[in-house]
Amino acid sequence: MLRRLYKDQPESFAFTAANLEWAKGQISKYPEGRQASAVIPLLWRAQEQEGWLSRPAIEYVAGLLGMAYIRVLEVATFYFMFQLQPVGSVANIQICGTTSCMICGAEDLIAVCKELIAPTPHTVSADGKFSWEEVECMGACANAPMAQIGKDYYEDLTPEVLRGLIARFSAGEVPVPGPQNGRYSSEPLGNLTSLADYRGTGATYNGSVQRAVDIGETVKRIDGTEVPLETPWLGDGGKAVSQLPGAPGAVSAPQEAPPAVAAVAAKGLPEAAGGALAKGKPEFEPAPEVLGVKPQSLEAAREGGPDDLKLILGIGPKLEELCHQLGFYHFDQIAEWTEAEVAWVDDNLEGFKGRVTRDRWVAQAKVLAAGGSVEEAEKVGRGEDAK
Ligand code: FES
Repeated sequence: MLRRLYKDQPESFAFTAANLEWAKGQISKYPEGRQASAVIPLLWRAQEQEGWLSRPAIEYVAGLLGMAYIRVLEVATFYFMFQLQPVGSVANIQICGTTSCMICGAEDLIAVCKELIAPTPHTVSADGKFSWEEVECMGACANAPMAQIGKDYYEDLTPEVLRGLIARFSAGEVPVPGPQNGRYSSEPLGNLTSLADYRGTGATYNGSVQRAVDIGETVKRIDGTEVPLETPWLGDGGKAVSQLPGAPGAVSAPQEAPPAVAAVAAKGLPEAAGGALAKGKPEFEPAPEVLGVKPQSLEAAREGGPDDLKLILGIGPKLEELCHQLGFYHFDQIAEWTEAEVAWVDDNLEGFKGRVTRDRWVAQAKVLAAGGSVEEAEKVGRGEDAK
């Protein structure tokens, strides 16, 4: 399809202070004269900040890198990872429509998008949350049909599963990416005939899903708003292009951020962002916020031993051990957790924060505590009941 600049363009674009520092860090990775190599990460961050790539954003990145505007436009219009028009505030859903996915049902997935989001691609849904488009093969053909939602792949989809996913994203949840039919990765659906101990590590998810879960940025935008928007060196209206190094008529930007900005920015800025912002020290450290309420726990499992918490989709041996350490042994304990208690447990699962909400433990535990089957619980865990 034709990839063109959108008809309505904003007047200007400028990175927030945090994103600008990050961009400088990226540019510094390359030797003098090779700054153009940073074009894709910078365009991506511009898209993260605004949600899509506008003409001013493309020009701004060209100015930062000292590149001809047309060269940056070529990159932005070539890769479909770059959105050239506004997208849904939660996610732009990219359905793969190439051979494997088409044979396995991509057209039915597109029909769901047409019904639930908008009749045409690149159109934002009435509630502003979603948009969709058909894209070419994304290299996950063994798990066809699949879609990229936000930054991650959701594989082995059916129309029903896609409906469930959209409903969960719409409700503010972030379902676990990867295969949605119970497969670990791309192994046969029947029994394995070789390498049968491939899950010998006891890992809950395959490598790429685990990575996605650990990073936790499936639909999170990195918009740089952790730094106050009043950034004096950007000038009035945030029009920074003419002031940035490398831009036509550029003047030097100050090297040091104002103390108040540095104090705020120092928190949570990656070292890669470099510069004064990342190295500044906050003036005070607020006491850590206590989230939620601790649920009632047990000193040990009741007579008869603990339930097999691993039957809850998303709980592996490590998480089960962590639950035991926190005093949770039985499905009926988990089934009773209130919202505040879920918040507490989510915040106290060291290394696995947020899993209770993400994997719907409470709903799954209710099914299992009531004598339901593992399959029924897994369906609930995957949100297939949330249509
Ligand atoms: Fe869809 Fe390759 S054909 S991922």
